[in-house]
Amino acid sequence: MNWKKLIGKIGIGAVGVCCGACDSGDIYPDEGNEGNVRKIETVCVLEHTETIPKARERKLMWAAFATKDDLQPLRSERITSASAGGSTAVTLTQVPKEATYVALVLTDQTSRVLHVFYGQEITAGTADLKLNAGKVDLVSFDRVQHQLFNQSCLQCHMSGNASAGLVLEENSSYAAIVGRPAQTAPDRMIVQPGDTLQSEMYLRLNDTEDFHSKFTTLKDDDISLLSVWIQAGAIK
Ligand code: HEC
Repeated sequence: MNWKKLIGKIGIGAVGVCCGACDSGDIYPDEGNEGNVRKIETVCVLEHTETIPKARERKLMWAAFATKDDLQPLRSERITSASAGGSTAVTLTQVPKEATYVALVLTDQTSRVLHVFYGQEITAGTADLKLNAGKVDLVSFDRVQHQLFNQSCLQCHMSGNASAGLVLEENSSYAAIVGRPAQTAPDRMIVQPGDTLQSEMYLRLNDTEDFHSKFTTLKDDDISLLSVWIQAGAIK
């Protein structure tokens, strides 16, 4: 038996040892290592598909993670459009066997998770899987918190020294904005359910004269999410 065959027999166990040190591609094929990966088919029915991000700074994707708390996916498949009310099928291929969590997530452009819409723990292994997430509403207050407030507002709207007394931290933000008169425009609410044009927050982020509209972290997709959430009733 020559040394190539021997390494072939030792198999995948040797790959880890060799990684980085060896570069002979003919012994370790780059892809298609059938013994190490699995395929995961997903299906879901998405609501509020108009809030699927279009810009590259935000991504809607199905992704597989090593653990539930990981912020970086091992494998992912982006969704750029879907038919409202119809079923959306996405297949993750080549998912490494150590993945133990599969989720429909929103990420930033570096694929770091900002928000989880649906998640399912799975047993590590190589058996192919099918997941049915059922109905998933892409609009929720949690998503507004994670995608908009946490990314762009906390620098100035944190308890202790909040600008205009407005605290946008998780757990206090909803009560601070919905049906609360704006300090700077007392005839309007900060958020008026069902009416963006009476909602001071929406008007500020849209007003090109207001410094709020100029934050580099603030994306058009974030403002349209806020708009759809308010129009849909600003539900918690
Ligand atoms: C760089 C600091 C800074 C950041 C970041 C910031 N704000 Fe503000 N915000 C202020 C200041 C200062 C005021 C008060 C002065 C004014 O009204 O312009 C204010 C006022 C407001 C008001 C008016 C509140 C009222 O009661 O009248 C709203 C609504 C608001 N901000 C929303 C936001 C949202 C949403 C974000 C994130 C997208 C955000 N702000 C990010 C500084 C900031």
